[in-house]
Amino acid sequence: ERGGKLVSTTTTIRRLGDFVGQAVTVQGWLYNKRSSGKIQFLQVRDGTGLVQCVAVKAEVGEETFATCASLTQESSLRVTGLVRADDRAPGGYELTVQAVEAIQIAEEYPVSLKEHGVDFLLDHRHLWLRVPRQRALLKIRAEVERAVMNFLDGDGFTRVDPPVLTPSSCEDTTELFQTKYFDEEAYLTQSGQLYMEAVAMSLGKVYSLGPAFRAEKSKTRRHLIEFWMVEPEMAFCDHEENLRVQENLIVHVVNHVLEHCEPELHVLERDIDKLRAIQAPFPRMTYDEAITWLQQHDYDIKWGDDFGAPHETALAGQFDRPLFIERYPTAIKAFYMQPDPDRPEVALCADMLAPDGYGEIIGGSQRIHDYNLLKQRFEEHHLPQDTYAWYLDLRKYGSVPHAGFGLGLERTIAWLSGIEHIREAIGFPRMLYRLYP
Ligand code: 4AD
Repeated sequence: ERGGKLVSTTTTIRRLGDFVGQAVTVQGWLYNKRSSGKIQFLQVRDGTGLVQCVAVKAEVGEETFATCASLTQESSLRVTGLVRADDRAPGGYELTVQAVEAIQIAEEYPVSLKEHGVDFLLDHRHLWLRVPRQRALLKIRAEVERAVMNFLDGDGFTRVDPPVLTPSSCEDTTELFQTKYFDEEAYLTQSGQLYMEAVAMSLGKVYSLGPAFRAEKSKTRRHLIEFWMVEPEMAFCDHEENLRVQENLIVHVVNHVLEHCEPELHVLERDIDKLRAIQAPFPRMTYDEAITWLQQHDYDIKWGDDFGAPHETALAGQFDRPLFIERYPTAIKAFYMQPDPDRPEVALCADMLAPDGYGEIIGGSQRIHDYNLLKQRFEEHHLPQDTYAWYLDLRKYGSVPHAGFGLGLERTIAWLSGIEHIREAIGFPRMLYRLYP
């Protein structure tokens, strides 16, 4: 005390270890509270961690003790106390309370600490985000984005932001969100790829990181209506090199998350050893081999069919690391994919399937760089030539072999975190018939 006033440093829970034996002030929210009449145990969270604050009536006095008693779940507060190292405490430190200031006493909190149904939780997503599990997921998401950027920035890529409003489709015309653009029709982007191909011819190696929108009426644990994609595109790059970049990127992201998010992975009860096993090179199967394997395992599937979720889960289940399936039939893949010169009925493309049933986390391919072949594909796919004229133009002026891929952020985060459904891998999920909050 100095002149009757408590002197303390304001800090965060994460940094308490620097202040053992000293008085500090922490500002945050009341997560939980226990009381034994003469002692109250306040669990306070501040975004960086959780700390138990112990208020002893005989030490803090009647008034402070009453303030502690008035605090409800999620009340905002400032608490001042002495930092004590305690191995049994979550986080390793405890605060012996000296003073408490209630900033706002919360009304009865809807997301109480008991179990809730998922619809209730999604309706209260704005509050649900405060629990340790959701905090951990937001943190992991931020670190995955950071890892992706670190890897690509360090490997000579330049980040470029493609438009969100587009005049044409990239993947499949049935899944577009349509909107008015003055007197024209516009669509929310499904993928920035076509634009990234244009900038790759300016910068060589580029990537985007942003949202994609698909009006797919599929309600699965792997589909969102709005999701985020990382889309690298590389000039002078072939199919082989494309796969190498993908596996190196994934290994880097896994290592970064292991290094920076261990406490969060523990909150999520993720099997960390499984993540440590993720090393390059990743196993590969051709589409042909995958079909044969599925047939041998009694799946009713024939050459030319696309895989469903059960097929992907079974195929990836053979391995402890992601699996590439390459060279799908051209007929079931996008119009822009380069056919295999030795076997034009298959494309130089690959999907990366995550282990444990998380499905496709990356889709990529070498792109058609020949003007006439691309023009022919436009005709076969009945695509309007006028809206794609600029894309065809790229093949007229110094066209080069190039390749790229799209990494789905939420599926990657769901896999790394070991969560059941990708809706928790983004702050405010947009799902079929769910636009609120
Ligand atoms: O395989 P997709 O459709 O590929 C493309 O859009 C390419 N234009 C990308 C490129 O080559 N630049 O999507 C890529 C990835 C998928 O592997 C998946 O991880 C994710 O995006 N994805 C979704 N994630 C959540 N919800 C959805 N509805 C998704 N659709 C695709």
